[in-house]
Amino acid sequence: MRPDDGISDEEGRHTLRMRDSIAREIAAAGGWISFERYMDLALYEPGLGYYSAGARKLGAGGDFTTAPEISSLFGACVAKQCAEVLRAVREGSILEVGAGTGRLAVDLLTRLESLAQLPSRYFILEVSADLKERQRRLLQAALPHLGNRVVWLDALPEPFDGVILANEVLDALPVTRFRWDGAMFEELGVTFQDGAFSSAARPADPTMTERCKTLMARALSEESSLGTAALDGYVSEYCPRLQSWAAGMARSLRTGAVLWFDYGLPRAQYYLAERRDGTLLCHFRHRVHDDPFRYPGLSDITAWVDFTALAEAAAAADCELAGFTTQAFFLAGMHIDAEMHAFAGGDANRFARLANQARQLMLPGEMGERFKAMAWLRGLDLELSGFALQDLRHSL
Ligand SMILES: C[S@@+](CC[C@H](N)C(=O)[O-])C[C@H]1O[C@@H](n2cnc3c(N)ncnc32)[C@H](O)[C@@H]1O
Repeated sequence: MRPDDGISDEEGRHTLRMRDSIAREIAAAGGWISFERYMDLALYEPGLGYYSAGARKLGAGGDFTTAPEISSLFGACVAKQCAEVLRAVREGSILEVGAGTGRLAVDLLTRLESLAQLPSRYFILEVSADLKERQRRLLQAALPHLGNRVVWLDALPEPFDGVILANEVLDALPVTRFRWDGAMFEELGVTFQDGAFSSAARPADPTMTERCKTLMARALSEESSLGTAALDGYVSEYCPRLQSWAAGMARSLRTGAVLWFDYGLPRAQYYLAERRDGTLLCHFRHRVHDDPFRYPGLSDITAWVDFTALAEAAAAADCELAGFTTQAFFLAGMHIDAEMHAFAGGDANRFARLANQARQLMLPGEMGERFKAMAWLRGLDLELSGFALQDLRHSL
């Protein structure tokens, strides 16, 4: 434990319990587990994993912040996009997956109420017991009169009409890590020795090798122009469950839209030759680091989303890929400028604060380009305003 990390005794004991639990599983498996399994345990092991246990996670004193936590402008814009869909279906509902502190739910419901377009039900599917509790408290305090519309679920609902949305959830799905050694692909797994985890490679099996070749096709074909050893030691990752998970979500929609917001790239940009260490990122106390073995159970572990893989899942889910754009263009398409004026209500100081928040959400060096929005439609023929200004589907 490093003294400057400010970990309490209780947190110290927690991360050691998490470490020991994973170490036992590694021993039982013969000394090696896949990275995907390690990430699964470190994030979701009941009672110990980052999302299953009580770490504060979001907001002040937490580990990271998200667009809804930065500004209610985000939720207001997403609400207007939801309203377009709710108008087109009968008695539509919303399902939010991974609702964090409940901030987005509050902002969405507030704006939808002002548009006279409240959903019949606002379902929340959340894995974290303590975040569920935070969501309940925030919704109860902010919108007590809408309490009867909000329903927490432990499993997907019966098929409904309306909108499914998830902001920054796909990046938490466990990933497989691989390495190209110049001649073959290896799978990077996890071992435990002398009280510490480390990465250990095994030859990839034929199925994984084929998958890696497909992902890396462009980079490998460019290698000759870059130099023959340019890619040796290249490490990256992919999410084996992304497509089945996303398609599974969408299947609970009868008619309507699925809106995905997350950081990520189309495949050809994801597996670029120069991105040779992959995109795995960990968050601990508002600091980003790249060591997934540091403070298991206390540290968030994420990877960027391969939006090409997500787009491929739309077809499997019997949905149409209706839009793909950057967060900045999505917010511009939803007229974030009008929301700023409405929120400021003529107060110049408030407007300046909102302008600052909008910059964080939209500037290329902040969240504007790294974060993307993707829309799927099922059983609806609809132009979605958030995707009207910029269409990046050709890049997938
Ligand atoms: C990075 S936070 C984002 C929270 C919120 N959407 C926001 O934008 O502020 C990820 C959220 O997804 C939840 N989560 C993580 N994995 C999940 C899963 N497999 N299914 C449902 N929720 C999940 C977490 O508990 C948390 O609420």
